[in-house]
Amino acid sequence: MQDVQSLSPKVAAEELKRLGEILRRANAAYYQSDAPDLSDAEYDALKRLNAEIEARFPDLKRTDSPSDQVGAAPSEGFQKIRHSVPMLSLGNAFDDEDVGEFDKSIRKYLGLKADAKLTYTAEPKIDGLSLALRYENGHLVHAATRGDGTTGENVTANARTITDIPDTLSDAPDLLEVRGEVYMSHADFEALNIRQAENDGKTFANPRNAAAGSLRQLDAKITAARPLRFFAYAWGSISAPLADTQKGAIDRLDALGFPTNPLTALCDGPNAMIAHYRAIEAQRATLGYDIDGVVYKVNDLGLQGRLGFRSTTPRWAIAHKFPAELVWTRIEKIDIQVGRTGALSPVARLQPVTVGGVVVSNATLHNEDYIAGRDANGQPIRDGKDIREGDWVQVYRAGDVIPKVADVDLSKRPEDAVPYEFPTVCPECQSDAIREEGDAVRRCTGGLICPAQAVEKMKHFVSRAAFDIEGLGAKQVEQFFADGWIKEPADIFTLRDRFGAGLQQLQNREGWGEKSAENLFDAIDEKRTIDFHRLLFGLGIRHLGEAAAKDLARHFTDWDTLAGTADRAASEPATGGATRDALAQSPAWGEFLSIDGVGQTLTQSLVTALAQDHERASIDRLVQHLTIVPPEDRASDSPVAGKTVVFTGTLEKMTRAEAKARAEALGAKVSGSVSAKTDLVVAGPGAGSKAKKAADLGIEILDEDGWLAFIGDA
Ligand code: IVH
Repeated sequence: MQDVQSLSPKVAAEELKRLGEILRRANAAYYQSDAPDLSDAEYDALKRLNAEIEARFPDLKRTDSPSDQVGAAPSEGFQKIRHSVPMLSLGNAFDDEDVGEFDKSIRKYLGLKADAKLTYTAEPKIDGLSLALRYENGHLVHAATRGDGTTGENVTANARTITDIPDTLSDAPDLLEVRGEVYMSHADFEALNIRQAENDGKTFANPRNAAAGSLRQLDAKITAARPLRFFAYAWGSISAPLADTQKGAIDRLDALGFPTNPLTALCDGPNAMIAHYRAIEAQRATLGYDIDGVVYKVNDLGLQGRLGFRSTTPRWAIAHKFPAELVWTRIEKIDIQVGRTGALSPVARLQPVTVGGVVVSNATLHNEDYIAGRDANGQPIRDGKDIREGDWVQVYRAGDVIPKVADVDLSKRPEDAVPYEFPTVCPECQSDAIREEGDAVRRCTGGLICPAQAVEKMKHFVSRAAFDIEGLGAKQVEQFFADGWIKEPADIFTLRDRFGAGLQQLQNREGWGEKSAENLFDAIDEKRTIDFHRLLFGLGIRHLGEAAAKDLARHFTDWDTLAGTADRAASEPATGGATRDALAQSPAWGEFLSIDGVGQTLTQSLVTALAQDHERASIDRLVQHLTIVPPEDRASDSPVAGKTVVFTGTLEKMTRAEAKARAEALGAKVSGSVSAKTDLVVAGPGAGSKAKKAADLGIEILDEDGWLAFIGDA
């Protein structure tokens, strides 16, 4: 072994380069060609030497350092990678009309006339799992799964085993993050399942599951033995633009060595898009891999930039889904499940049947009107046919959610079938279940005394978009709840103290050992520090979704301010039936309603929840255990970050929606009304009372050009 201490920086740098190359070649030989060119011991020694040089000269550590990428994956699950640009999902179109609406909404947002030229790309939507590949100076430095969209799993070693994914690129931008889909072909999937069955291994329900199960392997050697493929269709951070258009960028990725889908076409409007959709649909059965629709994207990247994103989806793209497969089966029984907000949800227990490659044994029946054959307005659905136990029904899977019922076959209805009687007491706690006027759903009034509500609330609390505690999923929550170990979220954070000493009780449970218990406690400790919006979402308050949680967190930045404002709102007189305008006049209500994305229904629900003694005490107990992290000021260096801006009058260079989205992207709050809290008013021609009020209050007023110059867009 060389003496690392005596190396000069120059020699050390050369040595790191050399070791990197040897180790990279060794990896390729090992994983991709299945023909190792180094013994395990030689490999380990070189890797150790590399790490020692890096430890001695941290500044010389290479971005493509073998220490970061290869060798055994971390044994305790995957490391996390924060995406430099979030990995979002796509909005859906289900029919031709939706495609027309998509085009119209884009034209409206951009202020384009109906006959202005607007080109789209149309390409298959691959049914696999998305992967982000980061290349620095032409070297693959890491690969991450989508995860929750913000943070994914580090699957670098696994991605390196996929032949479709180049390890090095030439003539690429210094920084290039390529995104695409990992999938498995039908032929490879079938062969894999045969091999698995022969070796008593796990077989997979469909190619998508097989691809996901193969990529997310802690041992990259297993991934290497699985025939995974990749299509590139998007990108994240880049140091230089790939092209001016979507199609140009895809062609560039293709030229760099990434497989891109050959069915990608340019279309000059909805008719051409739909025609290409039909053409792809006609080839679906013979493609050799699963697709579940067609993705349309605005071709001009400048326009994509202007269109930007909603909270979870881009405005410039949409997925046109293929119609779901419909299959007939029988309803054996109708059960009622009680959700976290007390909603009684009827579920059809079905004779198991395969739909789209997945065995289905439950379908949602939505609510009592739906079962009776009418919609929320009392109008007939399914020609007024009701649904009964024993009925033959046609079911389908819509995305990843619970299967749904499309139709009932009355000719097969058993003679003794009786109309379903919806319960009026909660099946879990026997409290009254009531249906408020205007609500389609009947709800248990038991609150936290209802065990079903309590446990569902806690499952929500640990869910991915909330506290996301590794090792504490729905199953464990149910188990711990049944054992009386956790009755409310705060109890999760006292588990270690209560069981820490001997861990006896936990260890006695099937599936728990000292190590896994310790890991669980560590994972819980990790979440004592939590993003404010995750806490808010995790509380499981009705109408408080992920997007609204982010809006609230951004506005209030800390728990005490939010709770204090809710308390004041609870004591302000005008609640209940008051109109939005009347409510907006009272200060605390007005503050909630001024937040874009927060309406009357959510405010009412939040204020009511926090005013309930039981609920509030439970939240207060929880908050004591937490360090709440305020939202990052995403654009703190922009001149309008944190400022409240009002747009009024006509804008000529952009639509109101675009102006608002742009201001928010720069960290501003956009409000509809001028008050003492307004920092800036952008007034176009025809501005009236708002501009006048701003002038009276001495608030700065800019015209459209002034605004664009101010934010640096002029
Ligand atoms: S574009 C900003 N193109 O579908 C979103 N996605 O439902 C960029 N997917 O998470 C995605 N084929 O995993 C895009 N040709 C395609 C796709 C595709 C499959 C997946 C992707 C995404 C999901 C959204």
